[in-house]
Amino acid sequence: MNGNIAGGNTIEKNLESIGDILVVMSGKGGVGKTTVAVNLACALGARGKSVGILDADFHGPNVPMMLGMEGGTLMADGESIVPMMAFNGMPVMSTAFLISNPDIPVIWRGPMKMQVINQFLGQVRWGKLDYLVIDLPPGTGDESLSIAQQIPRAKAIIVTTPQDVALLDSRKAVTFARQLKMPVLGMIENMSGMECPHCGKDIDLFKTGGGERAAAEMGVPFLGRLPLDPRTVVSGDSGKPIMAGDLGSSVAKAFSEIVERIEDKGGN
Ligand SMILES: Nc1ncnc2c1ncn2[C@@H]1O[C@H](COP(=O)(O)OP(=O)(O)O)[C@@H](O)[C@H]1O
Ligand SMILES: [Mg+2]
Repeated sequence: MNGNIAGGNTIEKNLESIGDILVVMSGKGGVGKTTVAVNLACALGARGKSVGILDADFHGPNVPMMLGMEGGTLMADGESIVPMMAFNGMPVMSTAFLISNPDIPVIWRGPMKMQVINQFLGQVRWGKLDYLVIDLPPGTGDESLSIAQQIPRAKAIIVTTPQDVALLDSRKAVTFARQLKMPVLGMIENMSGMECPHCGKDIDLFKTGGGERAAAEMGVPFLGRLPLDPRTVVSGDSGKPIMAGDLGSSVAKAFSEIVERIEDKGGN
């Protein structure tokens, strides 16, 4: 990558060939943003849409791992950056591709992060896409701010878990999006209940229904619930997303319903 900073016009022009831009965000870490972003992209891809993923979580760039793409090396010619391709032909860009040792943490201050975001937005050759899914870090810091400011047409998907602390943070995420005039496509309640593997009964480990209530209170659409399911962890760790495999499981069915709602609202 070179040191040129892509300006607003360059970014707009570079993203011209992309239909909808969906930003997956949350107020809190570990709620399942990356899981949602990767599975959403795979599900849209499986429905015949062309989809790319931008991993904008510099401190925890987990998208490549969840897609089984570790160890890739990036190609750049100074002008443009060629994204890496996932197993399903989906273009992916992540800071993980810039760092040779995954154990080395990224230590970048705000201006450096903004410069890298601008390069990702202005110089990555995405090609023609129906959707670009952007995975954000938790909270409302530099990365979220840059993305919201640089892509005025981006739409937010807010992931939350049912506990009160997570809900409080997700309300902040809604307020953040509103302040930046980023439309909120809706809220997803993840880790919402779980089916007991022994008796089949539902267990509300982190309570359930709070996300829907918070969405109603904040006046944003509720996109659906995803159950807590050990298969989600296994698929994330092994680089084989749930939505790229057997779609018969309860978690895959719940995901499919959410993706349908997103497609309806997204306009593509
Ligand atoms: N519905 C779910 N059921 C079980 N585990 C989940 C679920 N959603 C996410 N996880 C797991 O929780 C951890 C954190 O998820 P991740 O997507 O990395 O969150 P975030 O990007 O918000 O930090 C991962 O190990 C992931 O596999
Ligand atoms: Mg993440």
